[in-house]
Amino acid sequence: MSDQLFSVKDKICIVTGGLGQIGTEFVKGLRAREARVAVWGRTVNNERIVNTFGESALTDPNLKFYAVDITKKDSMNAALDDMEKVWGDAPDVLVNNAGIDTQPSAPPEVSGPFENFPEEVFREVVDVNLVGTFLACQAVGARMVNAGKGGSIINIGSIYGMVSPIQDIYAYKKERTGIPFIKPVAYSAAKSGIYNLTRYLATYWGKQGIRVNTLSPAGVHRDTQDETFQANFCARMPMGRMSEADEYVGPLIYLASQASSFMTGSNMVVDGGWTAW
Ligand SMILES: NC(=O)c1ccc[n+]([C@@H]2O[C@H](COP(=O)([O-])OP(=O)(O)OC[C@H]3O[C@@H](n4cnc5c(N)ncnc54)[C@H](O)[C@@H]3O)[C@@H](O)[C@H]2O)c1
Repeated sequence: MSDQLFSVKDKICIVTGGLGQIGTEFVKGLRAREARVAVWGRTVNNERIVNTFGESALTDPNLKFYAVDITKKDSMNAALDDMEKVWGDAPDVLVNNAGIDTQPSAPPEVSGPFENFPEEVFREVVDVNLVGTFLACQAVGARMVNAGKGGSIINIGSIYGMVSPIQDIYAYKKERTGIPFIKPVAYSAAKSGIYNLTRYLATYWGKQGIRVNTLSPAGVHRDTQDETFQANFCARMPMGRMSEADEYVGPLIYLASQASSFMTGSNMVVDGGWTAW
């Protein structure tokens, strides 16, 4: 018997920020299961596509790339119009994965004390992470409503949107350079808004069969991360390690498929136990 429960075959899926670290794994995971996938990326060019997904991505009829800035609704509607022309139907799945964050390597003017944190940076981070997600839900949700076939919207949250960052993890920066790194407020504030946007839309579209859930990851391992940062982070993590980017694919497939048919307005926490203590 072929198991249809977790099937995403032929579903039209959008992954915003689909050329980023986690987004790439989402796209690969969906394509490997025969979904039709539209990657919405801020910077899309053939070199980046080939480097990330290989040559075949340029000719795959079920994988499309669109230059979309999620803070600009016009660019989303242009992509949606083209997708409808190519695939003849409205989207089934939207993965709101695009986002920006301040890395420990950030300069002191954007990673200093809260009291001096620049207003324009706060607005920029909220604009992408929260307003951008709102706009994508609006643009894609409208198409799902018009098509009348339901859908699944998966908003990517973060442990730092659920609980405050542990500033001690970043204290090594001051010990090393004399300049403090304070994990900024903007990302946490913006991501926390995702949770009630999700609940709001889950109830708003509930009877139309459009399910809206949040998937909340914890820190993902990157080779470029400072070793002290990694050690400090892992020491706080119950599982004792960072996640790998592909460890969110299983939860994504669950949320995108019939397997989660009665789940909406929820937060799927996949955080190695970070928020368990
Ligand atoms: N990496 C982690 O440790 C971690 C932890 C928890 C949550 N998350 C969340 O997971 C998601 C993916 O993170 P990632 O680590 O893969 O980040 P990433 O920086 O590798 O990828 C994010 C992608 O979003 C794109 N993007 C940014 N602004 C955009 C805009 N205005 N329009 C369109 N695209 C835009 C970027 O170009 C990038 O490709 C984010 O929402 C992030 O907050 C990540």
